[in-house]
Amino acid sequence: MKAAVYRRFGGPDVVHVEQVPALEPNTDEILIRVLATTVSAADHRSRSRDIPAGLILPSSLVLGFFRPRRPVLGMDASGVVEKVGDDVQGFAPGDEVVAMLGSRFGGHAEYVTVKDTDAVVHKPRNLAFDEAASLIFGGLTAQAYLNRTTVQAGTTVLVNGASGAVGSAFVQIASAVGAHVTAVCSAANHELVTDLGAQRTIDYQTQDFTANDTTYDVIVDCVGNAPVDRVRHTVNPGGAVLLVAAGLRSLISAKRDARRYGITVITGPGPYRAADLQHVVYLGELGDLRPVIDRSYPFDEIAQAHRYVDTGRKRGSVVINVAEAHQTVPASTASDHRIL
Ligand SMILES: NC(=O)c1ccc[n+]([C@@H]2O[C@H](COP(=O)([O-])OP(=O)(O)OC[C@H]3O[C@@H](n4cnc5c(N)ncnc54)[C@H](OP(=O)(O)O)[C@@H]3O)[C@@H](O)[C@H]2O)c1
Repeated sequence: MKAAVYRRFGGPDVVHVEQVPALEPNTDEILIRVLATTVSAADHRSRSRDIPAGLILPSSLVLGFFRPRRPVLGMDASGVVEKVGDDVQGFAPGDEVVAMLGSRFGGHAEYVTVKDTDAVVHKPRNLAFDEAASLIFGGLTAQAYLNRTTVQAGTTVLVNGASGAVGSAFVQIASAVGAHVTAVCSAANHELVTDLGAQRTIDYQTQDFTANDTTYDVIVDCVGNAPVDRVRHTVNPGGAVLLVAAGLRSLISAKRDARRYGITVITGPGPYRAADLQHVVYLGELGDLRPVIDRSYPFDEIAQAHRYVDTGRKRGSVVINVAEAHQTVPASTASDHRIL
């Protein structure tokens, strides 16, 4: 099978599509023929070792110290079940599925295996494979964080980095339950985030959202420049700070900061659970979580996709069409800046 392989850390050109040995599912595994995946911020971080401050050592345990431990990147996949192991329940060949592979990676390949107990569920029925793939990384991350706090009608939420894969999912999921969302991103993306449900926008290039008297129930940092020290005076008593992008210092001080300031502080990876992915699929089918696809690339041009993601300015997701899909649902419009 073909896979996008990287054998050393570095720039986009370390990634090459090549032939690798075919995969065979174990008895508890599902073999998925991957039709679409994304190049995410996590792929960028892993490949380039652009790791948040203080986390290079722990992340090397997962990613490798001198060379990549897992030579195929890709945290997500949408595709068709090719084969199932004898003990697998709930999935059969031909099923259309989405999966979050998390730090096991492997989605940038023609095939990937997952356990039936992993975050793998049937694909949203109303979305094409590329559209479904675009929901997984951001949608599941946002949902995993939202599970650990209360966001409901009337909750005031500020999302820093609102136009990225994770931020755009937060904006949509919070807006869908009736929260009042303020989106922080550059002016060029204000129309996008407003369309996704944000009621207020702040251009971080001209305005510091912490430098006024406005306070919020929940502050979400998807950029990594809004630690508790910077934002605590803008959080309402009993409110929450969700540090999706955080360095070691924020991870270590989260519990202490929560006690000291009487707020909830949530940070750290995942967890990525099938039940939450199922909810993401449900939101996708309802139209409460719409695909935001910045650009799409054919598999052979995946290095170009990495190059674009490296800018740190993508809107929503950058999709890789790994194989021609016999789509059950037609892709909606053109491939650039597509919002359903
Ligand atoms: N904890 C976890 O489990 C977890 C899971 C997933 C991701 N993450 C981390 O979360 C972060 C966000 O991931 P992502 O996938 O959303 O990234 P992304 O899609 O690459 O984010 C790109 C967006 O960030 C915006 N941005 C860049 N600089 C900004 C700034 N100074 N202020 C506000 N917005 C800014 C850009 O908007 P403009 O062009 O408008 O600037 C762009 O739309 C990454 O650091 C990632 O590693 C953590």
